[in-house]
Amino acid sequence: MTQSDLPKSKTAASAIFEAQRLAFAPIAFHVARTLRDSGVLTALAGKPKGLDLTALQQSTKLSRYALRVLLEGGVVAGMLHEKAERYILSKLGFFVERDPMTRVNMDFVHDVCYQGGFYTEEALRTGTPAGLKVFGPHKTVYEALATLPPAAKKSWFAFDHYYSDTAFPEVLPLVFAPPPRTLFDIGGNTGRFATQCVQFDANVEVTILDLPGQLNVALANARTAGFGHRIKGHPIDFLDPALPVPQGADAIWMSQFLCCFSEPEVVTILTRVREAMTASTRLFILDTYWDRQKHDVARYCLNMSSLYFTVMANGNSRMYHSQDVLDCVKAAGLTLEQETDHLGMSHTLFCCRKR
Ligand SMILES: C[S@@+](CC[C@H](N)C(=O)[O-])C[C@H]1O[C@@H](n2cnc3c(N)ncnc32)[C@H](O)[C@@H]1O
Repeated sequence: MTQSDLPKSKTAASAIFEAQRLAFAPIAFHVARTLRDSGVLTALAGKPKGLDLTALQQSTKLSRYALRVLLEGGVVAGMLHEKAERYILSKLGFFVERDPMTRVNMDFVHDVCYQGGFYTEEALRTGTPAGLKVFGPHKTVYEALATLPPAAKKSWFAFDHYYSDTAFPEVLPLVFAPPPRTLFDIGGNTGRFATQCVQFDANVEVTILDLPGQLNVALANARTAGFGHRIKGHPIDFLDPALPVPQGADAIWMSQFLCCFSEPEVVTILTRVREAMTASTRLFILDTYWDRQKHDVARYCLNMSSLYFTVMANGNSRMYHSQDVLDCVKAAGLTLEQETDHLGMSHTLFCCRKR
């Protein structure tokens, strides 16, 4: 298409512009992140009249050439305005600099997903996390968590915690009505939920079930917090069908756990969990479902995060539609007793019993 062939209608012109935004999205991403991390956005924040090139050079120590290409990229990407050779932060630039969710997502994409993203098509064709090879020969990201490079590890946990942390205080009163004496936290990760449980209720004892490497981290955190006597651990790989789930829990909790597995795996995991339940055990499943979101931005983040599961995590899971998980719940011989939407940022809590 030449310039003279460009579409005349407004909608077609805007679609062709959007297409170019996608074509250059990886480059625009690096422009945004470098403007943020080199301190350009920080220098411009709170300065309604902006700064010129010389002032920005002094505060960022970038060359005039480097600043020019970054700033010009930032202007066309909508993060900056240029007026009389001064650069002013736009609302978009402000959010890239200050919005915590944008920061967490951008760090996660950069440190965890970006390099491996090159292998997206291979991952889709093979059903394996083909991008994970950039971090070593791992079968899933979960067995690699404890040994990821420092930046990837930091950004992975920041991403994980950012979304779960907001939901935990809101779900505790639901999980503890009535209060369980014993609670199993499946996929307990760093022990945050377990720690909040023992702080919330003085009588509960928690057992974290996780892969051995991550379980060691969780138990060390529990000891540091002074709860080593009430938070115990059970190492388990839920992908090994020969390993039974221990019995004895009044409540079983899994948060952002089922999204780490394919639908057939979810059914086998829930079936084994069901075998460990009695008629009075309550199973709580907390997750973020893209069909239960109030805001388009949440659905956008969830559907895009699915590709992280494809390329980096395990090659076969995703951020599910709620009905997908409800079908697995039913297939595993469980019944849904209660559901609560819009907890935390965008979570849904299912409470299930043995059928
Ligand atoms: C996405 S994180 C969720 C962590 C935490 N529950 C939360 O809500 O923030 C998934 C957790 O499941 C664990 N996990 C993943 N695959 C597993 C497996 N095959 N067996 C046991 N645990 C596993 C991971 O180690 C990690 O702690």
